[in-house]
Amino acid sequence: MSGRKFCVGGNWKMNGDQKSIADICKTLSGAALDPNTEVVIGCPSIYLMYARNLLPCELGLAGQNAYKVAKGAFTGEISPAMLKDIGADWVILGHSERRAIFKESDELIAEKAEHALAEGLKVIACIGETLQEREAGKTNEVVARQMCAYAQKIKDWKNVVVAYEPVWAIGTGKTATPDQAQEVHAFLRQWLIDNISKEVSASLRIQYGGSVTAANAKELAKKPDIDGFLVGGASLKPEFVDIINARQ
Ligand code: G3P
Repeated sequence: MSGRKFCVGGNWKMNGDQKSIADICKTLSGAALDPNTEVVIGCPSIYLMYARNLLPCELGLAGQNAYKVAKGAFTGEISPAMLKDIGADWVILGHSERRAIFKESDELIAEKAEHALAEGLKVIACIGETLQEREAGKTNEVVARQMCAYAQKIKDWKNVVVAYEPVWAIGTGKTATPDQAQEVHAFLRQWLIDNISKEVSASLRIQYGGSVTAANAKELAKKPDIDGFLVGGASLKPEFVDIINARQ
């Protein structure tokens, strides 16, 4: 056993309405969730307060993005301070959809992470390679580059969880096999030893994300360097409970 607490995030992305969110929260409230697993719900910002009031209080709540400063003339953005103010304690940053669709750079994402941590939020810091990069044999190079950018700005890793999400596995139904995921997680663990410290490498939690379902979660969860999941589609369904309980 690694001693790292298993951590499962649900990333609802831009999905849900008041009715469906109430239904998911009801399912989570009524379920027996593994007390040894930390759970974080990434909710669309407009529903964060609503979800906070409906979710069990021991579940964490995450924004899916936040800007790199506290306030000001940044139309359409929200700040970590605002997330904290309404009861969120986490933020998901650097998701591949933010990188690909909204053109967020490694540097901007790292700046956002730095500011969110300084404001007292915990950060799920996403990384992952595209199919093209994997096929070109560049997986390790890409995730190392993304980690380097975070490491330029993050000095204290205790409130950080890294989510390794191969882009080709997101929303495609094509999960990385447990061995494929473990291989990258082990590379990241070694990268942390070489570039940060042994202590951070031993304690930092690394989630896997990409088509995680109740059917594949248990096998993935057995891998020594997989410390949880970041779940998209399946986090909107009752099977999310089984994913949270994958270690049982
Ligand atoms: O952040 C979670 C994610 O991108 C994975 O999505 O739908 O493949 O579980 P999904």
